[in-house]
Amino acid sequence: MSRQIDDAGHLRHLLSLDGLEREMVEELLERAESYQRDDGRCQHTTELLNRTLANVFFEPSTRTRVSMEMAALHLGMDVVNLDIERSSRSKGESALDTLRTLTAMDVDLLAIRHAEDGFLAEVAKELGDEAVIVNCGEGHSGHPTQGLLDLLTVRQTKGGPEGLAIAIVGDIAHSRVARSAYQAFTIAGCEDVRIAGPDAWMPEEDEFPRAYRHEELDGAIRGADVVMMLRVQRERLAQGPEPDLDAYAADWQLTPQRMTLADDEAIVMHPGPMNRGVEIHDEVAEGPASVIWKQVANGLAVRMAVMAKLMERYHRGGKG
Ligand code: CP
Repeated sequence: MSRQIDDAGHLRHLLSLDGLEREMVEELLERAESYQRDDGRCQHTTELLNRTLANVFFEPSTRTRVSMEMAALHLGMDVVNLDIERSSRSKGESALDTLRTLTAMDVDLLAIRHAEDGFLAEVAKELGDEAVIVNCGEGHSGHPTQGLLDLLTVRQTKGGPEGLAIAIVGDIAHSRVARSAYQAFTIAGCEDVRIAGPDAWMPEEDEFPRAYRHEELDGAIRGADVVMMLRVQRERLAQGPEPDLDAYAADWQLTPQRMTLADDEAIVMHPGPMNRGVEIHDEVAEGPASVIWKQVANGLAVRMAVMAKLMERYHRGGKG
């Protein structure tokens, strides 16, 4: 039994998109769309009444944390938002004991964001079936619900992603968003994923094995159907020298002029939060090609789908 999929093939936790079957990914997207009404807003259900979600974010978040909370409320769940700064973590409690404390209070679902790669697999190992875990962003390694919402957005606006050229640009090395987007797009059949960024921010050669690597923005976005810009993550660059943002913007900012290199019908994506004027020009962020706010909206539907799917196994087997 893997940490994520049980022997019967059911999803136990959502820790990573890596290794997920295409069928499972498609099912999650179809489920997400089933919650969306014609006006794009999500309907309310009582599907998960009497279940409890705890949001435990050891790193800051707006989109993911709020949409997990809203998704849970749309499904009829109760929600606990742990304020880490004011929790007993400040008295020296380990992160694992904080999570154990919540499961002891019968929290069903833990939405966790943490800076350390491997932390969530460790939690899944230690807590077993005591709670269901959703990875809401882990170190550099993954942000699976973001990957799913990115895939849903591409599917709804461009079809595909089979047959599309998708460029992911920026600080690839430190980006969990890039890793999960790459996994989502390749699982769903995209054969032309391009990655580009300054040399120091490109990943190791053995990562993104099927992506085409570019050393310049122009080459990466030429003819692309989708251009995904990544945030310059100053908090993850703290150990190195302060990045020269003006120099970065000169070479790598997606400007209206550079956008003319992409396909005429290309869309622009960004996971948020944006550094306007650094990786993306204001006019591009707010321009007709931008689907950035649609990505945010899709986050709610995707997170509803993920939680409902995960709780199916619970309904079948109960805890433990
Ligand atoms: N895209 C994303 O994860 O945004 P937040 O950090 O605001 O959750």
